[in-house]
Amino acid sequence: MLHDRAFPLSELRLFASARSAGKTTETPYGTKTIEAFTVDAVAECDIALLAVSGDFAKEFAPQLAARGVTVIDNSSAFRYDDDKPLVIPEINPDAVGDARIIANPNCTTAILAVALWPLHKAFGLKKVIVSTYQAASGAGAEGMSELEDQARAYLDTGKADNKVFAHPLPFNLIPHIDAFQDNGYTKEEMKVTWESRKIMGIPDLALSCTAVRIPTSRAHAESAVIEFARPVTPDAARALLADAPGVKVVDDPAAKVYPMPLNASGKYDVEVGRIRQNLVFGDHGLELFVCGDQLLKGAALNAVQIAEVVLD
Ligand code: HSE
Repeated sequence: MLHDRAFPLSELRLFASARSAGKTTETPYGTKTIEAFTVDAVAECDIALLAVSGDFAKEFAPQLAARGVTVIDNSSAFRYDDDKPLVIPEINPDAVGDARIIANPNCTTAILAVALWPLHKAFGLKKVIVSTYQAASGAGAEGMSELEDQARAYLDTGKADNKVFAHPLPFNLIPHIDAFQDNGYTKEEMKVTWESRKIMGIPDLALSCTAVRIPTSRAHAESAVIEFARPVTPDAARALLADAPGVKVVDDPAAKVYPMPLNASGKYDVEVGRIRQNLVFGDHGLELFVCGDQLLKGAALNAVQIAEVVLD
């Protein structure tokens, strides 16, 4: 996934369940044999990138940290702990400090926040209303397979079974990702609010999200309507974003150029476009559309960037 990027580590070891141990896989470090996960074996490493369930992370990350390993965890187990940094290196690299457990944010947050941050620094975020268009890969490899199986079944028979998603996804969309909360939002939606506040250090940021699963494969798209504390123009926003790390302005609507999942897939930068003055908030308001690979900036790339900060 990150084959053309310099990896920051001198040696790479891969660990998985006993079921996968012994299998081989290609990596930027050559062919690697997967080892069975044990605390003793992983404790031989300086940095552990965990892509496991929250329960697994809660059990094993503290044990690894106690053995001197710096753990970068991709689950939501530690994201809201006051003593654990939640990090997007373009935004809050200093939060890493000498922490032994560092949380990697939810994909939807990372893809949005990396674009919001330069605008916040210049104009001050006040209110943000987000709608997401999230790819099947957000539900893991099973989600991607289910989308493909459902698409075939739909074309062949006109109906499809669903297991991973709440409903069939092809020719459809599902405004439901993760569990509903008492306030009517889903957990996926609240993650964007909670995590954005923590990462950008704006505890009272008013941010509301509607998260929607759509039948795309790999990149998430998000529309954001933003009210700023200070006046803003689309040209000023475009100029700032053009110089900002982690984002690429893709914004020439007359030429049919705007962010799209197909183009953002496999790219490290989050694409930002459709930048316009928002009609509701007037000269203090902007509207924009972002699109980012949820397996890269939304997950693995951000984790590797955190490792680079740790090693710096
Ligand atoms: N929670 C996200 C989704 C995946 O379901 O799309 C984040 O990696």
